[in-house]
Amino acid sequence: MKKSRKYLALLAASAVILLTACGSENQDTRNTDVVIDEKVDFLEFPEGFLWGSATAAYQVEGAWNEGGRGYTNWDLYTQQMRLAQGETGNVAIDQYHRYKEDVKLMADAGLKAYRFSIAWSRIYPTGFPFKVDARFQPVLDDNGNTIPVEPNPEGVQYYNDLVDELLSYGIEPVITLFHWDMPIALTGAGSFKNRMVVDMYVAYAEAVFRAYGDRVSRWLTFNEPFAFAIAIEGMLSLMQDIMASGGDVGFDALIATMNTTQSEVYWGLQMTTLHNMFLAHARSLEVQRDLETQGLIIPGDVGIAFDLRPAKSGSNTPEDLAATKLFNSLFNDWFVFPFTRGEYPAEPMKRLKDLGYGFINLSDEQVAEDLAYIKEQGLDYAALNFYSRATVTSHETSGNFAIATGVGLGPVFGEAYAQQVEEEPGSENGAYDPQGLYDGLMYLHKETGGLPILITENGGGYRVEDKLTDDDQVHDPLRTRFLNGHIKAAWQAIQDGVDVQGYTAWSLFDNFEWFFGFQGRFGMIYVDYENDLKRIPKDSYYWYTETIKNNGVAND
Ligand code: NOJ
Repeated sequence: MKKSRKYLALLAASAVILLTACGSENQDTRNTDVVIDEKVDFLEFPEGFLWGSATAAYQVEGAWNEGGRGYTNWDLYTQQMRLAQGETGNVAIDQYHRYKEDVKLMADAGLKAYRFSIAWSRIYPTGFPFKVDARFQPVLDDNGNTIPVEPNPEGVQYYNDLVDELLSYGIEPVITLFHWDMPIALTGAGSFKNRMVVDMYVAYAEAVFRAYGDRVSRWLTFNEPFAFAIAIEGMLSLMQDIMASGGDVGFDALIATMNTTQSEVYWGLQMTTLHNMFLAHARSLEVQRDLETQGLIIPGDVGIAFDLRPAKSGSNTPEDLAATKLFNSLFNDWFVFPFTRGEYPAEPMKRLKDLGYGFINLSDEQVAEDLAYIKEQGLDYAALNFYSRATVTSHETSGNFAIATGVGLGPVFGEAYAQQVEEEPGSENGAYDPQGLYDGLMYLHKETGGLPILITENGGGYRVEDKLTDDDQVHDPLRTRFLNGHIKAAWQAIQDGVDVQGYTAWSLFDNFEWFFGFQGRFGMIYVDYENDLKRIPKDSYYWYTETIKNNGVAND
């Protein structure tokens, strides 16, 4: 299997897993555009619709050792473990130094919102927002209170400048507090498996709310809990043994680990991590509401960018339908039910328990208490990242791949096989499938009782078309088609009663695509990595500019 294919499989697997969990278990209507009434000529969006784009700190900022930034998990994965084939986000697209140029490009396109993430390691370089001893236990003052650590002024200033620059053009900042990059000491302390890291996250979140909450009102506590906890940390944690015994590290070793390990192992290892992340969300949301009530920050909303996987069944046989239901239950309900129902879905929970997996260091009573609290806090709005979806069958068929590159999904899923539709040329994260976005929106709409929804990511990664032509242009019709089809799906969902308030496309700029490094391009602006990171708007950039100007797209 070629590297690009494996990478595709890895990402698509996580995308598949997320997307497959939602909603309607009907027979697959593969790769479809949503059906829109032919009589409508123009698909106009509601006034004030938030057209935007999204990025994450590690993928764009660079300046990895500047401004007092601390070392992170991703510095380790890329620099030491070489998980992006030797490429790193050390420089990325250098947005740290070029943010003014980048915001100008956003303004020229007419963007109404920019979703970006804050690097925890810029605010607290060591990761610790309060003093701790050598065992990571908080040091308390004479009154029994934790002793705060001052946020790093240079880090705080960077995002202050970015927020102000955006606002000067009328672009709304949408801040993600955690988009996968974590100060290394906290990764070493067990990441979110360790409840102490939840305390630290909440204190970090409070510092961020206080620093920018006078101007920012839309927040996301976490980006893609599945991808982070299961696909990234779950797989990497399995590699630690290999590394400790001097075995191979790197991308190939990662894939080999995935291929030889059943997916329920990742889940079993990481269910505590996920649970604690949900708790961290709830506690941060409570802090944000308190600050708001005290008048210390402007009124705002807090959500999570879910990576759901609204799978479809391969057929209408009872076996395939049951497999799809189970799959959806694990990959969608597991992530949303804690907030909407205060519980985990029963069937996958039972199967995990039967396999001997449980929460680490958490009693059943504690889990139940946490869940009641998580539900009580809930979500202010729902957010969805969508790329593609899988088709699920109860038996292996040709073209199947499961969580990784061909393994079965394991006992936790019963006999459930996730397939990805092949497409040539395909997008990085799976086949073009706007109907899947529609299904995901519907699922979230119904499950959250009609909360407002932001589409926080969606975009086409078609590296084959991202070539500079002689006249310094990039013609990317596949990406334009991808965005257009999904925007239409969002429009249809709005007609059908879903309160979709915005769409922050992934992404305006090509950037560092995690394990795929700079090979994976999703941008509407080409970044010339050979030529001083020059930004060159692609055709899709001009198309998106028109779309925003017209507040919609033609129905053609
Ligand atoms: C999901 C992630 O949130 C983002 O960081 C990534 O680059 C895109 N999908 C594209 O794969």
